[in-house]
Amino acid sequence: MTLLELVQAQSARLEQAGVSFGHGTTNAFDEAAWLTLWALGLPLDGLDEHADRELAEAAPPLVEEVITRRIESRQPAAYLTHEAWLQGVAFYVDTRSIVPRSFIAELIAHPDYSGALDAWLGRNTRRVLDLCTGNGSLAVFAAMAWPDVQVEASDVSDAALAVARINVRKHKLEQRIKLVQGHLFERATGPYDLVLCNPPYVNAASMAALPDEYRAEPALALAGGIDGMDLVRELLWRAPSHMNPRGVLVLEIGNERAHFERAFPKLEVAWLETSAGDDQVLLATRESLYAVTPP
Ligand SMILES: C[S@@+](CC[C@H](N)C(=O)[O-])C[C@H]1O[C@@H](n2cnc3c(N)ncnc32)[C@H](O)[C@@H]1O
Repeated sequence: MTLLELVQAQSARLEQAGVSFGHGTTNAFDEAAWLTLWALGLPLDGLDEHADRELAEAAPPLVEEVITRRIESRQPAAYLTHEAWLQGVAFYVDTRSIVPRSFIAELIAHPDYSGALDAWLGRNTRRVLDLCTGNGSLAVFAAMAWPDVQVEASDVSDAALAVARINVRKHKLEQRIKLVQGHLFERATGPYDLVLCNPPYVNAASMAALPDEYRAEPALALAGGIDGMDLVRELLWRAPSHMNPRGVLVLEIGNERAHFERAFPKLEVAWLETSAGDDQVLLATRESLYAVTPP
């Protein structure tokens, strides 16, 4: 059996089992390729190079076992491999934090999208806060992209921060990223020139319909109340007093634009283009945030 034939067979198993994707891949073939290459200790981008390689007899059972675990546990593949890739950067991950996949990463690290953010940043951008940092991925991207900034990364969850700590160390950014535990800005030191935030924003109806793979992630990281905006309301209200006069907030709200606009009818924001479209990530200036009323 060749490597490609093994991937195709495992892809068919994933398809037939009806597993969900969205944590690093979007389809059964890519997910099967990832887990197959990982189980065999091959480079994750090595499928094309090794596709026709004849496999040793011991190889297929190794891969079949991992795919069986993926199907039976319904855990995202990254929780099985303890590694997630985002914009070509590897992150450690386990069930204490969500699998890194924020579209804000594209605005920092993707050549097609990062220009939009560059236009709002200047020589004076020195202090960055990654609010709701979870696995720490956005803090790591910010520190990598902008060598002159100091990054603070905060989260209410000690468990998630333990994962963030592993990623900060993995990328040798201990001198550039300070991790802080607390509710929203509670322990943040500010004021900040840039606040990045991918908060919990999933509305209650969507939470109730989530596939098992998303239920494997901490609910604290996803659930945003009836309209998804519970935490966002307090966040937008509090943000200006932690930002410098020319500071900006970059906020991800997933598929919740309609709920967002209903919750903040007077707030003027710029919607930023990512590969998910132009209604999932927005930018608000400190000035504009004064239109937000107390929750
Ligand atoms: C959607 S995850 C984002 C994780 C990471 N920034 C990313 O993009 O992959 C949201 C994070 O918000 C954190 N969180 C939930 N409630 C919070 C609160 N009241 N204050 C601070 N962080 C909170 C969760 O623990 C979780 O890590």
